[in-house]
Amino acid sequence: MEPNHSNKPKNMHNIVLIGFMGCGKSTIGRELKKSLGYHFIDTDNVIEEQAGKSIPEIFEQNGEQAFRDLETKVLKEIIHQETNHHIIATGGGMPIRPENQALLQKLGFVVWLSCSPEKILARTARTSNRPLLNCNDPLAKISELLEERSPIYESSSHMKINTSSLDFNEISCGILESARYHFGNIPSVSTSLNE
Ligand code: S3P
Repeated sequence: MEPNHSNKPKNMHNIVLIGFMGCGKSTIGRELKKSLGYHFIDTDNVIEEQAGKSIPEIFEQNGEQAFRDLETKVLKEIIHQETNHHIIATGGGMPIRPENQALLQKLGFVVWLSCSPEKILARTARTSNRPLLNCNDPLAKISELLEERSPIYESSSHMKINTSSLDFNEISCGILESARYHFGNIPSVSTSLNE
C-alpha cells in the first residue's frame, strides 16, 4: 500500500472490486493494474499477511466473526493511509457489514462483479481455500448466499458487470470506460502515481 502524504483533502480515487467468490475479482484486478499502472491490493492477502495465517486457518482457529473484524480493520487502514490510485479487490463477504459498505463507497468507484452459481461452482471447485464452500452441497450454499448477498452487492456498488460470459479483457475495458465517466477522467500512470 502506498500512502498519499498530501495534506490536501481530496476524494479517494480507487477502483474497488466487490462480488461473490469466484467472480474474478483478483484476476480482473490484476488486468486493470496492468492497463492503468495502478497499485493492486487484495484485502484477503493483506489479512493473511497481517494474521500470519491463511484464511481457512483464521476461520478454523478464530471463527468467522474474527475474520469479519479483520476485514473492517483492513478497510479502515486503507482509508487512513489515504490510499489513492489503487485497484482494491475485496473478499466476497466484505460488503455484508453496513459499516464496510460506507467505507467501500468512500474508497472510490465500486464495481460489482457478478456470475452465475454454476460458473462460480466450476471456478471455486479448483481450490479448497474457501471455508464457506467446504460443505456437502456447495452449489446450494452458493445459491443461498447469492440470494442473501445480491441486494447488498447491488446497493454497495456504482456498477455491475456479469463475468459469466465476457472475457477478462472485455470486462476490464468496460470498467475503465465507466471509471473514466465516474471520476471525470483517469490520470495517466505517470501523473497518477506521483500526485
Ligand atoms: C469469503 C470470500 C473469500 C474470503 C473468505 C470469505 C466470503 O474471498 O474472503 O473465504 O464470505 O464470501 P474471495 O471472494 O476472494 O474468494
